[in-house]
Amino acid sequence: MAAYRIDIMTLFPDSMRGVLGESIIGRAAKKGAVEINCVQIRDFTANKQMQVDDYPYGGGWGLVMMAQPLKSCLDYIKAQAGERKTRVIYMSPQGKPFNQEEAKRLRRDYDHLVLVCGHYEGIDERFIEECVDEEISLGDFVLTGGEIAAMAVADCVCRMVPGVLADEECYTGESHWDGLLEYPQYTRPEVWEGRAVPPELLTGDHEKVRHWRRKKQLERTLDKRPDMFEKLELTTKEDKKLVEEIRYERLPDKLKLRFEPRRAEESDMDALLGILDEAKSFLRDSGVDQWQDGYPNREVLSEDIAAGRGWLFECEGRVAGYECVAMTPEECYKGIDGKWLTEGENYAVIHRAMAGADFRGSRLASEMFSLAEELAAGMGKTSVRVDTHRGNKPMNRLAQKMGYTYCGVIDLGLLEPNSDPLRNGYEKLL
Ligand SMILES: C[S@@+](CC[C@H](N)C(=O)[O-])C[C@H]1O[C@@H](n2cnc3c(N)ncnc32)[C@H](O)[C@@H]1O
Repeated sequence: MAAYRIDIMTLFPDSMRGVLGESIIGRAAKKGAVEINCVQIRDFTANKQMQVDDYPYGGGWGLVMMAQPLKSCLDYIKAQAGERKTRVIYMSPQGKPFNQEEAKRLRRDYDHLVLVCGHYEGIDERFIEECVDEEISLGDFVLTGGEIAAMAVADCVCRMVPGVLADEECYTGESHWDGLLEYPQYTRPEVWEGRAVPPELLTGDHEKVRHWRRKKQLERTLDKRPDMFEKLELTTKEDKKLVEEIRYERLPDKLKLRFEPRRAEESDMDALLGILDEAKSFLRDSGVDQWQDGYPNREVLSEDIAAGRGWLFECEGRVAGYECVAMTPEECYKGIDGKWLTEGENYAVIHRAMAGADFRGSRLASEMFSLAEELAAGMGKTSVRVDTHRGNKPMNRLAQKMGYTYCGVIDLGLLEPNSDPLRNGYEKLL
């Protein structure tokens, strides 16, 4: 007795036998690993004309397959199969969509499937109610008959029966087995139409090949089936690292830049003034009148540096940005038209945050905020505050993105006499 048996109830057994008798499934059936029977429903009609269908009650288009031949056919199959864990499935566009998990379940929970193929308008509902255990659909579309769907189910379930494929690995490594798609496959020649096989596959190093393939599986699933990727639970360190790597590789070049902060020194002044000029031009070109009046300047930066609160960010040997992180309270913050998140004065302040033109759109600005928060936390501060011109949209957006809460409007007074003195004040609790 074959380990797994499938009976397909159909009006077209010959054409199905042709397909199922070929290749891997055909060979598996020949050597007895599985048994697949295509049974002619028409052989079980109780009328002389061998009629299997009739007009639908209530009128309408097409014909409906009658319950009696279907039931007699099913009884015959059950009698033939003997004691087995049988599941009667009607192939139907109204059924549960078929997928690898459904196939695994059918393979695991039963050793006998009866697949009922409808035709025309379908089958008499009373047969479904009386005899069918479940309905399975090949997808959200309508076929002429259930045969193609039944062959798909039979093929997919059979290839997981021991003895059908050479090894379990033949199907456990494939698409959909563990929620991923398979890696790309290549065969001879090594170069075809100018396209070479990925070098990793030619190393002969099994571990390298395995690692490369795993990464490709994750990458392909992300690209081709984002819906599947979203459901993935990354449980291994390797997968987590690979996904990080894939995401990093896909970042725009600017977002890949890495920044190193250090305390600014007087000798950095030329580079800092260069960045300050670029920041001022950017504000002017954006229609913001902040910093257009001589402030900040060399003296202000020098004071920051001397007080040890000036921080510079380097990227690939270049000075990319600057900020002042002050641990002392700001006098004008007391008169906020609004309300700070914290009472008292145990807060740090970010002043004079500026980025070089080449580093706009990178992670620099958010790293500046992070550094300020780290320094503030290290000094036992309970929050960080920052203010920005009401028209400085990028800075307002950044503050909000970094988790700062808008607290109200601050009047800077005469710090920049020819510009709007009002600033939006933000605060973040540490
Ligand atoms: C034309 S269809 C009948 C469709 C039916 N009148 C309905 O609208 O739900 C004829 C037969 O094809 C099979 N069939 C059609 N689409 C299918 C699908 N997506 N999956 C599985 N079987 C399907 C069913 O066995 C069905 O009885």
